[in-house]
Amino acid sequence: MGSRLLQIVAVLFTVTLFGEIRTNAAECSPDDLEALISFKNGIQRDSSGRLAKWVGESCCDWEGVVCDNASGRVTQIRLPGFISTDEDLYQSEMTGMLSPSITLLSSLDTIDLGGLIGLSGTIPETIGVRLPKLKKLFLYGNNLTGPVPESISELSNLQELHLHENRLSGSIPSSLGSLKNLQRLLLYSNHFSGTLPDSFGNLTNLVELDIHGNSLSGNIPDIFGEMQVLEKLDLSSNLLSGKIPSSITNLTAISVLYMDTNYLEGTIPFPSRSGEMPSLGFLRLNDNHLTGNLPSNLGYLVSLQRVSLSNNKLEGALPSSLGNLRSLTELYLSGNLLSGQIPNSIGQNSQLLMLSISYNMLQGPLPEEISSLKNLQTLDLSFNSLNLSAIPKWLTELPSLSKLHLAGCGIEGQIPELSQTSLNSIQELDLSVNNLIGSIPAWLGSLDQLYLLNLSRNSLESFIPDSIIKLRDLGVLDLHSNKLTGSITQAISGESLTHVDLSDNSFSNGVEDIGIGSKDIQYLNLSHNFLRGGLPSSIGRLKPLHSLDLSFNELASNLPETLANLTSLETLKLQKNNFTGNIPKELLKLTKLRELNLSDNSFEGEIPEGKPLIDFPRSCYAGNIRLCGKPLSPCRP
Ligand SMILES: *[C@@H]1O[C@H](CO)[C@@H](O)[C@H](O)[C@H]1NC(C)=O
Ligand SMILES: *[C@@H]1O[C@H](CO)[C@@H](O)[C@H](O)[C@H]1NC(C)=O
Ligand SMILES: *[C@@H]1O[C@H](CO)[C@@H](O)[C@H](O)[C@H]1NC(C)=O
Ligand SMILES: *[C@@H]1O[C@H](CO)[C@@H](O)[C@H](O)[C@H]1NC(C)=O
Ligand SMILES: *[C@@H]1O[C@H](CO)[C@@H](O)[C@H](O)[C@H]1NC(C)=O
Ligand SMILES: *[C@@H]1O[C@H](CO)[C@@H](O)[C@H](O)[C@H]1NC(C)=O
Ligand SMILES: *[C@@H]1O[C@H](CO)[C@@H](O)[C@H](O)[C@H]1NC(C)=O
Ligand SMILES: *[C@@H]1O[C@H](CO)[C@@H](O)[C@H](O)[C@H]1NC(C)=O
Ligand SMILES: *[C@@H]1O[C@H](CO)[C@@H](O)[C@H](O)[C@H]1NC(C)=O
Ligand SMILES: *[C@@H]1O[C@H](CO)[C@@H](O)[C@H](O)[C@H]1NC(C)=O
Repeated sequence: MGSRLLQIVAVLFTVTLFGEIRTNAAECSPDDLEALISFKNGIQRDSSGRLAKWVGESCCDWEGVVCDNASGRVTQIRLPGFISTDEDLYQSEMTGMLSPSITLLSSLDTIDLGGLIGLSGTIPETIGVRLPKLKKLFLYGNNLTGPVPESISELSNLQELHLHENRLSGSIPSSLGSLKNLQRLLLYSNHFSGTLPDSFGNLTNLVELDIHGNSLSGNIPDIFGEMQVLEKLDLSSNLLSGKIPSSITNLTAISVLYMDTNYLEGTIPFPSRSGEMPSLGFLRLNDNHLTGNLPSNLGYLVSLQRVSLSNNKLEGALPSSLGNLRSLTELYLSGNLLSGQIPNSIGQNSQLLMLSISYNMLQGPLPEEISSLKNLQTLDLSFNSLNLSAIPKWLTELPSLSKLHLAGCGIEGQIPELSQTSLNSIQELDLSVNNLIGSIPAWLGSLDQLYLLNLSRNSLESFIPDSIIKLRDLGVLDLHSNKLTGSITQAISGESLTHVDLSDNSFSNGVEDIGIGSKDIQYLNLSHNFLRGGLPSSIGRLKPLHSLDLSFNELASNLPETLANLTSLETLKLQKNNFTGNIPKELLKLTKLRELNLSDNSFEGEIPEGKPLIDFPRSCYAGNIRLCGKPLSPCRP
């Protein structure tokens, strides 16, 4: 009821407003009318239908056009691609050329042609000379090419320049540094090259500078530290090199600082005293070549919430001042050379949701203070020198833990019996590359939210427990390289399974159940086992299968024709079995096949002639003595 009434009020309100504009609107100036018509003529398609309604001469009444009441001059063009009405929000699209005639609308203060997807052409070269009143220029989310014209730097009133997500190229004009009133400069996701202009240090009103996803090279200028009101700086995913200038600690308003995915080197400049960069909440410097330690000054950045320093060459121990970062929710440090122990102070980061320190050289013991991180959801300590020996019981009792990765942590012995309250909300459990022995425990079947189970590369020797079938959400099951025996049936039956790797074990049966349980498997690897029997025709039900590896088993008999129903297959490996009969000609339907190996079986007859089968090398068919035809020798008539 209430919302219905609101709708009616809104409609009445719009009608009233619209009526008023009509009565007060002056006729638009003939020059503006002509310019708008040229603009319209450049557009071939406007899915919103707005331009189709641009008829007659009262251009000030046209949708998306705003005039000055007194002069009748057009001051704004507002035709954004993303349209919100009282009823809904939708994305519209315009294709065609951006006509340079818009520069004839000399009273414009706002151009909003953002997000129209298909607007092409270049930014008119004379824009800066012709539109001196322009404050907002939104041309983002289109198909524009060419450079940013130098003349833009003449637009001394410009506050917002949003040119992101186009195909603009060339270097970024240094003269943009003279746009004293500029508050937001968004140039991301284009093809800009060249270096970052020093002159940007003069943009003292700049609040947001986002140039990520271009091909900029060279250093980050020192003078960037002088942008006193800058809140967001994103230079990520470019080709920047050299050191991060120490002057960035002077960015007093900075809240978001992203410089990840570049070639930056040297040490990270941290504040030299407390109070510098007081609002820095989001810091990404990952995927660079940064070196040196994480100094205790890290603790001055008390507002930090999300930090990624992964994939650099950082070394030394984690400072205990890490505990000062009380707002920290996500910390990514994987892929560095960090050593020493995790400091006890980590227990103070009580907001921590995500801690990822895999692929470092951290040593044990693990501080029990981690057990006070009641909000911790993801813990990844894989591949360190932790030498855990056993999974600490307190770790399994963290109340929010949903992803636990302890691969390569030196865990030994049997997988322990867990209490009822352990791993209650676990979704991912990775204990791969440890020294686990004994059996896969039946209690795993009670982890009813489990999505990923990785026990690969251990020394487990048992059957797969029946209870695994109870895991309704299990999607990824990796048990490869153990000494597991018996049937694979339980491991391929779960309804949600998409990725199953049972390779390099001692399984001997269950092949007849492929395709009976799960039908969503995309990756199935059963190679290097002792599987016997023939492939069932139910295999054809695994429609999404991309990769099937049954090599190095003892499988026999003919291939079922239904194999050809697996049209998503890119990889099919059947070598080193004893498959017999002809290669079914239906396999020519597997047009996505990139990798095939049928060698060392007992196939016979002619290889079906056609793509993709004839494109594979001879070694894919070798060792089948009665097989002939391309790419092997011709069959005898
Ligand atoms: C122009 O007139 C309309 C309708 O009377 C009014 O809502 C609007 O504020 C006026 N604009 C200017 C800039 O005076
Ligand atoms: C962008 O322009 C190119 C040609 O310049 C055209 O091939 C492509 O389809 C256009 N893309 C869109 C989304 O309109
Ligand atoms: C910054 O502005 C000043 C004064 O307008 C000018 O002298 C200087 O050359 C500018 N710096 C850069 C790097 O453009
Ligand atoms: C930070 O700014 C102050 C004052 O403008 C200056 O003296 C200092 O050298 C700057 N620090 C860095 C690291 O550039
Ligand atoms: C890890 O444990 C093994 C055996 O428990 C021991 O031989 C090795 O020295 C330990 N390594 C470290 C770095 O503590
Ligand atoms: C399981 O762990 C191994 C070793 O750590 C890794 O190589 C493999 O990719 C993991 N499997 C899955 C499906 O993530
Ligand atoms: C299947 O597993 C084996 C052994 O673990 C491995 O060598 C092979 O690359 C895997 N096959 C595919 C297609 O990933
Ligand atoms: C599966 O393959 C069989 C044998 O080639 C064929 O008769 C059947 O139509 C296929 N089913 C689908 C859904 O493609
Ligand atoms: C392969 O199968 C054929 C036909 O069933 C049989 O004669 C042969 O002995 C088998 N070879 C091996 C190595 O098992
Ligand atoms: C196919 O498998 C055989 C082993 O049976 C191996 O020697 C050969 O290199 C493989 N060919 C390709 C292309 O992988």
